[in-house]
Amino acid sequence: MHCIRKITEDFYWVGANDRRLALFENLFPIPKGVSYNSYLLLDEKTVLFDTVDAAVGRQFLENIQAVLNGRSLDYLVIHHMEPDHCALISDLLLRYPDLKLIGSAKTFPMLQQFHGSLDLKNRTVTVKEGDTFSCGRHTLSFLMAPMVHWPEVMMTYDLTEKRLFSADAFGTFGALNGRIFNDEMDFDRDYLEDARRYYTNIVGKYGVQVQNVLKKAAALDIRMLCPLHGPIWRNNLQYILEKYDIWSKYEPETSGVLIVYGSMYGNTENLANVLASLLAESGVTHIAMHDVSTSHVSELIADAFRYSHIVLASPTYNGGIYPAMASYLEDMKALNVQNRTVAVLGNGTWAPTSTKQITEKLQSMKHMTLLTEDFSIKSTLQETQMEELHAICRKISDSIRS
Ligand code: FEO
Repeated sequence: MHCIRKITEDFYWVGANDRRLALFENLFPIPKGVSYNSYLLLDEKTVLFDTVDAAVGRQFLENIQAVLNGRSLDYLVIHHMEPDHCALISDLLLRYPDLKLIGSAKTFPMLQQFHGSLDLKNRTVTVKEGDTFSCGRHTLSFLMAPMVHWPEVMMTYDLTEKRLFSADAFGTFGALNGRIFNDEMDFDRDYLEDARRYYTNIVGKYGVQVQNVLKKAAALDIRMLCPLHGPIWRNNLQYILEKYDIWSKYEPETSGVLIVYGSMYGNTENLANVLASLLAESGVTHIAMHDVSTSHVSELIADAFRYSHIVLASPTYNGGIYPAMASYLEDMKALNVQNRTVAVLGNGTWAPTSTKQITEKLQSMKHMTLLTEDFSIKSTLQETQMEELHAICRKISDSIRS
């Protein structure tokens, strides 16, 4: 049975939810599922905006067939060529012989890469920044959004209804559960964490490019944001635009401390716990703690984007950094985590070098302020080091208050 939502008189959500997929991109846990949004406009021409992932293809095809109700499909606008939105393109080309594809100059070579040798003769319309396209009552204009987060990405602005099709931007993990509009749900309570985790891990590297898109968006009168994942925004758009502005500028959302520790036998964990208690006693109220071995790295990245201060505590392992912590640091660098105030706490039983090596990694990231020089314990935290730990705590709490 088709499962659709009407958005306005001639405009429908025809996407689908996947709650079976364990790992998005085979990387990111999605215990609450994910939605693949697709939209269908019934104007003088029928226009579909993006397709969906292959896993929900059958539902999607039923949906568009039901909304078309006997009409043919005239155009498909392709905003992004990642397979979670493009899996059904070749099926649609077969089902609808008059279908034409609208995309950017970089779209169609990618389409051939993913779908093999399609015969696209007379079936493509290549658009560039500022081009317009009339569907009848609706006029669409196209904005290029390169590297948000792939090079071919574009967005479409419906001049008639003032809605922006924003590709992956403003999307989130989390299935929609029947509700498709932000005003039908408590986004802050139920989706914000997943939205942050989605943005920071998937688009986080490309803050400059997101800023460029936000500048383009600021010049438009947008009444509705239609992303490829998560809810459609039809009120309080400022909320999600402001989140994107903060995240893409690498500014912290929360004044507080993220503590990430690696611990083989609990001794580095004890060090992290003692520091956390000292921070709480000194009045720091926002403290998040993660065991680097058990929290998924996507959560660690999301919290690195969220908090103003980061404490990394790690044993030395094989003369290097504890592997899970080393991997986290690689991810931080790859995703451009920057502009944070950081303290490093090391551990080692005979040759502690993790502090020095973590510090070097952090110094290779942009605008990181180090509050510690070479603090390390030997196997366990000793009473003789408490004064130094108190001093580190004061530096962090003073820095938060400043
Ligand atoms: Fe949702 Fe970049 O694909």
